[in-house]
Amino acid sequence: MNIIDIIEKKKHKKALSEAEIAYFIEGICAGTIPDYQASALLMAICLCGMDARETAILTDKMAHSGKVLDLSALAPCADKHSTGGVGDKTSLVVAPIAAACGIHIAKMSGRGLGHTGGTIDKLESIPGFRTALSEKEFFEQVQRIGIALVAQSESLDPADKILYALRDVTGTVDSLPLIASSIMSKKLAAGAQVIELDVKTGDGAFMKTPEQAKALAQAMVDIGKANGKKTAALITDMDTPLGMCIGNSLEIIEVIALLRGEGDADLRELCLALAAGMISLAKGCPKAEAAALAAAALESGAAFEKLKEMVAAQGGDVRYIEQPERFERAAYSLTLTAPESGYLCALEAAQIGKAAATLGAGRQKKSDSIDMSAGIVLHASVGDKLDKGDAFATLYTNTQSTLIAAAEQVMAALQLSTAAPAPRGRILGEIQ
Ligand code: URA
Repeated sequence: MNIIDIIEKKKHKKALSEAEIAYFIEGICAGTIPDYQASALLMAICLCGMDARETAILTDKMAHSGKVLDLSALAPCADKHSTGGVGDKTSLVVAPIAAACGIHIAKMSGRGLGHTGGTIDKLESIPGFRTALSEKEFFEQVQRIGIALVAQSESLDPADKILYALRDVTGTVDSLPLIASSIMSKKLAAGAQVIELDVKTGDGAFMKTPEQAKALAQAMVDIGKANGKKTAALITDMDTPLGMCIGNSLEIIEVIALLRGEGDADLRELCLALAAGMISLAKGCPKAEAAALAAAALESGAAFEKLKEMVAAQGGDVRYIEQPERFERAAYSLTLTAPESGYLCALEAAQIGKAAATLGAGRQKKSDSIDMSAGIVLHASVGDKLDKGDAFATLYTNTQSTLIAAAEQVMAALQLSTAAPAPRGRILGEIQ
């Protein structure tokens, strides 16, 4: 068997065998298949697809590229994952809420991908925070304080660590089988018995239409159930950024505000819905009861205390969570104003995500480091009335030369209308 034949086979839209998929995953982990051949196969999969059998095999081989943890001793133990969005910091709110409700949270997250941000990059903006825990540390932390959030590693889903970084910089993210296998391999390897998924659709999502999102959600729920996991997915709108902040430490600051009972109502509503789904699956209780538990954990401050406990346990400086003004502000900023009066009827999420990356919040190459304080703070939401000259966004960066290009991207994302747009909900559907 050789990798060139496998690339050619997929290029000609043929289904790969289990042995070929195993050969690919073993080869990237052993370093015998170089990045350029792996990238070529990723592009062939992106363009030619994989059927459900191939996707399930790819997921399984990726999950077993490292250890698959057994957390049955910690039941009920839950994990959550989003397919990627702009300003999507829900995991950092949902996980502490569910943990404060007595559910063990054992979560494996990713870094920024394409124009979307990643939970791991956001957490690493907290000075000292360690996202690489050994399996023993991971297990013991979940057992002791009920929550741990880690990255893929050499021992946990190393195949996804490699493929994820390649997909980020080779235009091979928006593929159903690659997203499903990336997410579900992490969920299977991390070992939780309950999986709550947030499948995004719209301009800022990898699945542009609700039909594509539904197909992705169904594929992942099917993989979860076939592996004995209680799995459910919400389909949610990602046409506009989620919350008011986009960028790593800026999003942590918004998470802190939300867990302290302040912040954006739209973001809060989605976080509570995801937390309720997770709690209901884990406890086997009705959604309404789970929703009440989630709201109480948020309102009482118990979820905020859980976030602090997790940050302390993973080596982060808790003073930043207690006093978010400690986060370094970027050296340069630029506030953008409405060019004319009107209702904010759209703020295209993909452009906003790309603008944040231009400012330094994302990567263009695998080796790029991230500017943790770079990003965008929005001052208006879709539906708000703006007068000409009203500020609607401020850009932050430590690289002054990025400001003009990012400003052009953000201005291109802005749409104003004379009539108020019809209100839209974030939650579009559910797959169970
Ligand atoms: N999140 C992941 O972990 N992988 C993807 O491919 C997309 C979102």
